Amino acid sequence: MAKRTISPGGTIDGAVELPGDKSISHRYAILSALAEGASEIANYATAADCHSTLECFRQLGIEIEGKDARVRINGKGLHGLSKPGRALDAENSGSTLRMLAGVLAGQPFASTLTGDESLRRRPMRRVIEPLRQMGAEIEGREGDRAPLEIRGGNLRGIDYTPPTPSAQVKSAILLAGLFADSPTTVRESVCTRDHTELALREFGATINAIDGSRGTVRIQPGPKLKARQLTVPGDLSTAVFLIGAALILPGSSLMLRNVGLNPTRARVLDFFISIGAPVHVASIQSRDGELAGDVSVRHAALEGGTVAGNQVAEMIDELPMLAALGPFTEKGIEIHDAAELRVKESDRIAALAEGLRQMGARVEEFPDGMRVEGRAAGKLHGAKIDPQGDHRIAMALSVAALGAEGGTTIRDAECVGVSFPEFFATLDRLRAAESI
Ligand code: S3P
Repeated sequence: MAKRTISPGGTIDGAVELPGDKSISHRYAILSALAEGASEIANYATAADCHSTLECFRQLGIEIEGKDARVRINGKGLHGLSKPGRALDAENSGSTLRMLAGVLAGQPFASTLTGDESLRRRPMRRVIEPLRQMGAEIEGREGDRAPLEIRGGNLRGIDYTPPTPSAQVKSAILLAGLFADSPTTVRESVCTRDHTELALREFGATINAIDGSRGTVRIQPGPKLKARQLTVPGDLSTAVFLIGAALILPGSSLMLRNVGLNPTRARVLDFFISIGAPVHVASIQSRDGELAGDVSVRHAALEGGTVAGNQVAEMIDELPMLAALGPFTEKGIEIHDAAELRVKESDRIAALAEGLRQMGARVEEFPDGMRVEGRAAGKLHGAKIDPQGDHRIAMALSVAALGAEGGTTIRDAECVGVSFPEFFATLDRLRAAESI
C-alpha cells in the first residue's frame, strides 16, 4: 500500500476552506433519509466514513445523488426504509455503525451491521445494552463486537445514563427514540458533541434539555421529519492538524475559513490558547443550528500542558495531534482519564507512544493516557512509521515529522482518507518552501 515520505521544514502560509465536518455530515445524511422528501446537503464531508453512511442508506432503499460535495437525499419518512439485501458495511466508521444501530433498532425487519477489521474489534456493548432495554433484539459477536444482528421494532422509551460519555451512543439512543412508544431520555455527566440534538431540531423533531442540565436531553417519539437544505461547516477536528503544522513550523501563518465552532467541539481552541498558541476566531455565524467562523493561527513558542477529566470527552479526536505537539513544547503534553483512546480506530495511546518514540521522543505511557516530554528531551528525527491504519495517527505523526531532522515515511498513508483525503495535498499547497 502507498507510503508517503515527509521531508521536514518549510512554512505554512495561506488560507484554506476545509471539507465539511464528518460528525455533522453523518447526522444530516441519517436524518435526511428519515425525513419526508428531498434534502440537499452542501459541503458534505469528503471523508470515506461519511460515504460509508450514504452507501448503507442506499442499501436501505434510499435514493442518493451526489456531485462535488453536494448530496441530494430522497428521504422516505420515518417508516420508509426497506430490508437490505445484504449486511450493511460501515467500513472504518464507528459513527456509522453505532448510529445506524439506533435507526435499525426501530425497523420492523432484521438487518446485519458490520465493518472492517478495525471496526470489528471495537466495543459495541455500549449500544447493544440500551437498545435492548428499548426492546430491540441485538446480538453481537462475542457479545460486544460487530457484526451486529438486529431485529428491531416495537421500542419503548427509556431513561438512560451511558457508563462512558459518548456522542455516538447518545445519538444511537436518541435516533431509536424516534421510533419508541414514549419519550426517551439520555443523561450524560459531560455534554458530548450535540450535533444530533441540533440536527434533530432542524429537521423538526422535539428534543429538549431537561433538569436544567445541558447533559440531559429528552426526545419525543414519532415526529414527521421535514426535508431540509443544509450546509455543513468545515471540520474543526481536521483543522487541528493544520493548526499543529503551523505551530511547529517557524514563520507560519494560517487562516482556516468557515470552520465549525460548536461549543461542544471547540474546547481544543481554548486548550491551544492555554498553552500559548496565538489562535484567533472571527466572523462567527450560526447556520442550520451550528456555529462556524474563521480561525487563524501563527507559529509561536508553546508552553505545554495537561488534558484531563471532562476535557477529554470534549477533545477526544484532537488528543493525537496534541500528544504529537509535546516534543515542540517547553513543558511537554500530558494526558490522563483518556482510556477511551485505546478503543478508537487503533489503540491510539500505544500507536502514538510507539510512533513518537521511534522519532526520538521521550514518552511515558499510562493505562489512561501518556506523557510526552518537551523540547529538553531533544529534537525529533525522521523514522519509518506504521500508523496502524488509523487516519488521525497518520496525520498527527506526519505533522510531527515536519519538525523532525531528516525524512519520515508513513506506511499506508492513504488511511488519512477516512476523515481527510486532501490532507497531504493541502499541506503541500500551504507549505511555501517545498513539497512533502
Ligand atoms: C463521534 C463521537 C466520538 C468521536 C468520533 C465521532 C461522533 O466518538 O471520537 O470520532 O460523531 O459522534 P465516541 O462517541 O465513541 O466518543
